Amino acid sequence: MVSVQHSCGALRADDVGSTAELSGWVNRRRAHGGLIFIDVRDRDGITQIVFDPQHASFSEAEKLRNEDVIRVRGQVRHRPAGTENAKLATGDIEVGVEHLEVLNRSLVPPFQVNSDEDVDENLRLEYRYLDLRRPRLQRNIAIRHKIVKALRDFFDDRGFLEIETPMLIKSTPEGARDYLVPSRVHNGSFYALPQSPQILKQILMISGFGRYMQIARCMRDEDLRADRQPEFTQIDVEMSFATQEDVLELMESGIRHTWKRVLDVDLQTFPRLSHAEALSRFGSDKPDLRFGLELQHVNDVFAGTEFVVFKSVIDSKGAIVALRYPGGASLSRRDFDALTELAKQNGAKGMVWIALGADGVKSSAAKFIDEAAIAKLRERTQAETGDAILLFADARDASLAVAGKMRNEIGERCGLRDPQKFAFAWVTDFPLFENDEETGQPAPAHHPFTAPGEGQWDLIDSDPLAMRAQHYDMVLNGFELGSGSIRIHKPEFQRKIFAMLGMTQEQIEERFGFFIRALDYGAPPHGGMALGIDRIVMLAVGETSIRDVIAFPKNQMARDVMMNAPTPVPPRLVRDLGLQVTAPSVSPA
Ligand code: AMO
Repeated sequence: MVSVQHSCGALRADDVGSTAELSGWVNRRRAHGGLIFIDVRDRDGITQIVFDPQHASFSEAEKLRNEDVIRVRGQVRHRPAGTENAKLATGDIEVGVEHLEVLNRSLVPPFQVNSDEDVDENLRLEYRYLDLRRPRLQRNIAIRHKIVKALRDFFDDRGFLEIETPMLIKSTPEGARDYLVPSRVHNGSFYALPQSPQILKQILMISGFGRYMQIARCMRDEDLRADRQPEFTQIDVEMSFATQEDVLELMESGIRHTWKRVLDVDLQTFPRLSHAEALSRFGSDKPDLRFGLELQHVNDVFAGTEFVVFKSVIDSKGAIVALRYPGGASLSRRDFDALTELAKQNGAKGMVWIALGADGVKSSAAKFIDEAAIAKLRERTQAETGDAILLFADARDASLAVAGKMRNEIGERCGLRDPQKFAFAWVTDFPLFENDEETGQPAPAHHPFTAPGEGQWDLIDSDPLAMRAQHYDMVLNGFELGSGSIRIHKPEFQRKIFAMLGMTQEQIEERFGFFIRALDYGAPPHGGMALGIDRIVMLAVGETSIRDVIAFPKNQMARDVMMNAPTPVPPRLVRDLGLQVTAPSVSPA
């Protein structure tokens, strides 16, 4: 009889009576009623196969262990009534094995592959091939593929060309350190790996391509966090003759298309906030809009206060910011102490709490907060009996930053950060420069190619820190998903920005001469954006670390623990590169 190859997720009741061939891994083996049952697994699913003692393969089947690789042939049949498994797509049928081939054996895996049980992350990363066999990562990697495909198709439909840019380039500044690659041919010289394709995509606009996109690998040597890897992927986009509005419309449509196609979710129009408004209302330039709990500015409530802390903050034009903590009145003093400690770790000088208990009001600054003040605070924060109100007083930026972090903490504690909910938003009107604390000089808030907003050039010499940029970020659930801007396309303005960042003419020429020369030859107005694919996928699948949506991520120490990289290399290779290693090699962690 002819047997047809199937994936392990394919067979249905309609196939009963046919002969099927399945290849895959032993997911689980059990003996019952004299028979051996094996769940055989591949990427597509799981099928139950059954070995009968009458068949020659039975004794082989007795020796099978989890993760052995097999191929079987046999009759598809209904499972006996009452033994169907509604959780499996193939749960109505089983395959009675007539022929077994053992293709390979597996050692006992260091953790269960057939479940998503918690395993130490470094062990998972060391045996990444086994980790990737597990259902959660199989799903995440498959959804990643679908998201990238949906975005690629979207941009293709809109006339964007996918163009690859090189990995061995000269530094493209994005605010992180470069990964450097020493040249063997030009000893003493180094390529930089791209922090982004920023300059190259701008040059592609000068080259007349008009609409570019790339699934671009970027490398940045920066401190790692759950949403940062040294190597990550962007969907990088640039278009000529575009306004900020054009880019926002394009990128928002791309995400809406992707969410519909991959997750079958209809997204609402993204709300827009200016940078100043985002900070003032949420204490963050990437606000989590899944919940309210907006920050309230309450200096006026404490005008004339004798509480020294508040008084000095008001006198020095700082800000007292109030935050509602729903249900917070049930916290003990000790809980409030711990919360105050957390606020301090987040940069607060201190925290005042007011618990609006049913049996009366308690506060860490009871002496200074009278009934009238409490009534006003209740009204502003919309706190109810049973809630608490937290107050942060400091310089305005510092108060807002701490209150913003504590808002996220309270949102988390109150279960307001539902991973099934997608609260996208645009943040616009960023400052062009920020004060570099190390040098005391203005530094680009993003990269130095961003164009200022309408009418802002006039401020460049008098008050650069007040300049607004045509820069925009897309945020989702408290994460920055992407950022972009309209670029400077006039060479004289680009020179001016470099000069104002403290670069001499020689330095400008040495680092960016090629780019300014390109701008000199008829650069069209242009703008674009890059979205972080790892973050998009992380949030789309409800993970909390991008490591869980990248096939082969680095650990938190920037090591690839499976391949064991980075590693020292033989001295001869170092010599060929014209280098000398002076640091002792550091032991792996
Ligand atoms: P930016 O530096 O904001 O902009 O990066 C864009 C997006 O890339 C993602 N991202 C990261 N993801 C994981 N790990 C990292 N280390 C990491 N760094 C950045 C984020 C971020 O929002 N050239 C500009 C874009 C432009 O102006 O067109 C740029 O790279 O999701």
